[in-house]
Amino acid sequence: MSSFTVAGGRALRGRITVPGDKSISHRALILAAMAEGTSVVSGLSDGDDVARTRAAIVAMGAGVDGEKITGGRSRLHEPDDVLDMGNSGTGIRLLAGLCAGLPWMTVLTGDASIRRRPMLRVREPLHDMGARIYTRRGHLAPLVILRSDLHGIDVGTRVLSAQVKSAILLAGLSAEGETRVRQTVATRPHTEELLALAGADLEVAGGGRDVRLRPGPLAPFEIDVPGDPSQAAFWLVAACLVPGSEVVVDDVYLHPTRSAFLDVLVRMGAEVEQTGPAQVRARYSPAMHGTEVGGEEVPGLIDEIPVLAVAAALADGDTVFRDVGELRVKESDRIATTTAALAAMGARYELTNDGFVVRGPNVLHGALTASHGDHRIAMALAVAGLAAQGTTVIDGWEAVATSYPGFEADLERLCGS
Ligand code: S3P
Repeated sequence: MSSFTVAGGRALRGRITVPGDKSISHRALILAAMAEGTSVVSGLSDGDDVARTRAAIVAMGAGVDGEKITGGRSRLHEPDDVLDMGNSGTGIRLLAGLCAGLPWMTVLTGDASIRRRPMLRVREPLHDMGARIYTRRGHLAPLVILRSDLHGIDVGTRVLSAQVKSAILLAGLSAEGETRVRQTVATRPHTEELLALAGADLEVAGGGRDVRLRPGPLAPFEIDVPGDPSQAAFWLVAACLVPGSEVVVDDVYLHPTRSAFLDVLVRMGAEVEQTGPAQVRARYSPAMHGTEVGGEEVPGLIDEIPVLAVAAALADGDTVFRDVGELRVKESDRIATTTAALAAMGARYELTNDGFVVRGPNVLHGALTASHGDHRIAMALAVAGLAAQGTTVIDGWEAVATSYPGFEADLERLCGS
């Protein structure tokens, strides 16, 4: 296990681009594998999660040569081994959907964290489509997926999750008849956007809440994956919190289903501003105050809550995070891991039924902390460390490789060393 040491008080200054969006990267690879011909995909995330999805489509017969990905139904075949999706919830759930409709057996597994995360949320709707998916007791991975004939369904998902919606749509590519997924709030639309790019027979209504898909062949496509807003969030929040900072993030994806954290920061009095179609600037913001985060905005900022909680710890007054129970089933129990780390650094908080309240302002002090194998906790703690007095040590730092292997190098660059 490696650790990372952060000295507090180092201002961040400069322009930066972040790795390609992780969510879009997974989908680009999966749909390129299904498209009949050669797609060109550039700007993919360089993290381990996306490398696992790339390895999985190669194991199923897709050809990957740099940015060129050659796929198609007649080319794909049964993988000759278990597909190990590592730490990736998106990878395992999306592939469960895709593989449910492919004419062979697939076994999907992952690391200890993945093997604790809930899979019923995808198993149940896929089962209703006719899929045969076997799990360990408690609906846990590994997943054994057997060849089945699928039929389309009209389903309102129980869990508000883009992964669940996407698994159903990917299964729908191989189902007989139309597949319709309805959600009460629009979740990230990347699967739909890429399906449309690949010429799928798709209709999106209700502001993204109602998606219909009819099966049919996919055409190859070209995409340059934009920067990941969830990674940009670390630099933008750090710039708000450390005196003397000013950071501009370029080429970042800013769809409303992904940029809700910017609205929260603005509500908190942060000096954060969208300065171009794909550009955001943040400056040191000495007058930040608490806010309430909850309801329909939650799916659009669920991954940014650990770093928003760091901002909340320094802000004046209470910040209430409501309706965030999903955090308990992410790469770690992020309510527990975020609050424990902030408490170790001197912040006050309270747990509630459906979330937590951070009581500010606090003076954070350096501490010995741990990622708990969770990349976003590791990076949120690096931001907390920059905003703290003294030195912070983050154990389990290797987790950042899941999504942002270059995080440390980018931090050193922005901090001017
Ligand atoms: C993702 C959806 C979100 C998010 C995850 C990536 C995706 O999960 O937390 O990091 O790419 O679809 P849920 O769909 O489970 O909310």
